[in-house]
Amino acid sequence: MEKKQRLRCVVLLVCISASWVRIESLRNGLGLTPQMGWNSWNHFGCNINEKLIRQTADALVSSGLANVGYKYINIDDCWANYNRDQWGNLRANDATFPSGIKALADYVHSKGLKFGIYSSAGTRTCSGRMPGSLGYEKQDAKTFASWGVDYLKYDNCNTDGSPEKQRFPVMTQALRASGRNIFYSMCEWGYQEPAKWGAEVGNSWRTTTDIKDTWSSMLFNIDINDAYAKYARPGGWNDPDMLEVGNGGMTYNEYVAHFSLWAISKAPLIIGCDVINLNKEAYGILSNKEVIAINQDSLGVQANKVKKYGDLEVWAGPLSGGRKVVLLLNRGSEGTKLITFNWADVGISPKSAASLRDVWLHYTYKKTIRHKLTVRVAPHSCRLFVLQPL
Ligand code: GLA
Repeated sequence: MEKKQRLRCVVLLVCISASWVRIESLRNGLGLTPQMGWNSWNHFGCNINEKLIRQTADALVSSGLANVGYKYINIDDCWANYNRDQWGNLRANDATFPSGIKALADYVHSKGLKFGIYSSAGTRTCSGRMPGSLGYEKQDAKTFASWGVDYLKYDNCNTDGSPEKQRFPVMTQALRASGRNIFYSMCEWGYQEPAKWGAEVGNSWRTTTDIKDTWSSMLFNIDINDAYAKYARPGGWNDPDMLEVGNGGMTYNEYVAHFSLWAISKAPLIIGCDVINLNKEAYGILSNKEVIAINQDSLGVQANKVKKYGDLEVWAGPLSGGRKVVLLLNRGSEGTKLITFNWADVGISPKSAASLRDVWLHYTYKKTIRHKLTVRVAPHSCRLFVLQPL
């Protein structure tokens, strides 16, 4: 083959494979920052109905939570009839969602919010109470689109045993073909390390099994999630599961640490409590604009654990504008401890002075700091700072 011809061949091949990649991947322009919203599962499980969802949408708006960024109202498992209808379509549960999902999505949209739904890459969902979408991906994605669904959480129960890597992209294609741009939240629990392939398939991927409303479960999940930090990016996020803040199983300080760790890890901030009856403390945590801004920072880099000695840890990561976020965590229950970090630990040049802002106290220290910092951290608590090198 002549040189020119060979070059043409190579260019053609590159073009063909580039267009193939485009078709195969999600690239839907959604999730440029981690998704924020509410989901029914952690607090309500299967005890959901249309009135609850409407009231939750009302509460998200009236409380001001929608204003600080929580936009998605997501129904989890148990929203559909036990069986498909005679045409093979999923149908809203006649007893609990009598007005149907379209009407509910319209209501949520009328509040300026977005609407999310749930299914499984199996024959039934995890509750076993409704069908899953395996083998019905195209049909269900079309149904969701026709209802005005903006977000799909796609679970991993009652499967045919085929690999997640094969099953989850089928829904990617179905969503692409549905005629609506739908956020794709993959929930395969980290089984096939979706962080390594998820960015082509979905907008976020669970890295862990289900969170429980306890200090140890919360830390267990964020530690697993931390191992995949480098794979997170705008459009595709690691998901250590939904928030438990407000559900009552942890202390105030523990919930502050939970929310802080999720925020710096660029985790989806999906509220999992009853926002209609939200207590003041939980509201204060969930609505902290400075912590939310860390999560939603335009750089989109997940912070990670940079230092550990016993129960004491330093987590850090870059933010836009050359800033750094630093979280000091005392996992122990044995009393207040001193945690020290050096500039080198958190990626600041050793010669730089830095200003220091405590985003829970909403306080910027008067003096700039050099070289290192030592801070007291109470048991089962964290301190969260933004540093600006000067
Ligand atoms: C799985 C998921 C949970 C929730 C339930 C619903 O366990 O991981 O987040 O969706 O199913 O049954």
